[in-house]
Formats: sequence, structure tokens, C-alpha cells
Amino acid sequence: MQELVEKVLINSQEIQKRINDLGKRISRDYKGKEVLLVCVLKGAFVFLADLIRAMDVPLKVDFIACSSYGSSTESSGVVRILKDLDYPVEGKHILLIEDIVDTGLTLNYILSLLKERRPKSLKVCAFLDKPERRVVPVKIDYLGFKIPNEFVVGYGLDYNGQFRNLPFIGVLKQEVYSQK
Ligand code: IMP
Repeated sequence: MQELVEKVLINSQEIQKRINDLGKRISRDYKGKEVLLVCVLKGAFVFLADLIRAMDVPLKVDFIACSSYGSSTESSGVVRILKDLDYPVEGKHILLIEDIVDTGLTLNYILSLLKERRPKSLKVCAFLDKPERRVVPVKIDYLGFKIPNEFVVGYGLDYNGQFRNLPFIGVLKQEVYSQK
């Protein structure tokens, strides 16, 4: 699988270091509060798994799934809830965990949905940000890395459902996309 990778943008040591820093910062900010981490499936599950182990506050996790790219690399702009949360949100401190903010459409949609449920607070923690691609403005409270406008895979992010298990963030060789 690694032979299909053109280049590594962020290696696993850089990822772990950044996540430890984020975990400490978030723990400081939520000291004395219980937080519900809402993980946006599927891409954010690897990030969530590492982030919660870098956090030192009482926390719960829940999962929400939305339609995103399907099998192509371009956003359709259409957001649909495929799996809703198990826990109620009202009166809770919610931290939304996203893999990557690209156009911002998915995040914008989920944020407005959660706001309607009247959480006590609502913040966003995203692993990656591609600011050049933004269509709607969104505030990211905690960010892992800003990256250029390239389609990336690994560390939970997929192309066509695959490559989520790569331990780094990388860019695939052009031949992978032309094989389809
Ligand atoms: P947005 O709605 O355009 O911000 O897209 C957000 C979703 O698209 C992310 O949660 C990812 O699932 C997917 N996505 C955006 N860019 C990439 C990428 O470079 N690689 C893999 N998935 C991506």
C-alpha cells in the first residue's frame, strides 16, 4: 500500500506530538467540566482515539455520520445525516471532532444541527484544515495542522474507502486515481 503513496506530508511522530499538545490544551480549557466529544465518522475515528488518550478530563464520546465524498475526491455539497447521536446534547459541553475541514459545508451543517439542540457550549477540534478550499466560513477552536490544497489520505482519511490505516498523512500517486 505504501508504494502507492507519492509523498508523506505529516509523519506519525509529528502527529503524536501535535496531538499530545492539543490534548493538554483542551484538558486545561475544560478543567472541572465534563465534555462530550462528538466524533464525525468515519474519518475522525483515528484522531479521536489518540486525542482522548492525550486528555485528562472526564469525558464521554458519541458518533455522528454524514454523507460526504462517496467515492470521488470532490464534495457534492450535499450533507445528509446517516447516523445520529446516542446522547442528548442539551446543557452539555460539546466538542466536535472532525478529520478535515475542506469546503466547510459538512462542519457548518453539523454545527447548526447541534446548536438547535441547545448545548451549554459548542467548540470544534479538527485534525486538518485546507483553508484554500473554504466555501462557508467556520471557526476551528483547536486545530492539528493546516495543509495545502491537496487530496490527502491516512490517519483515518480515505480515498474510495481505503488508506485509512496509513499511520501518516500522505498524498497518493496519480495512477491510483486514474485506475478507477
Ligand atoms: P467539507 O464538507 O468539504 O469540508 O468536507 C469534509 C469531509 O470531506 C471530510 O470530513 C472528509 O471526510 C472529506 N475530505 C475532504 N478533503 C479530504 C481529503 O483531502 N482527503 C480525504 N477526505 C477528505
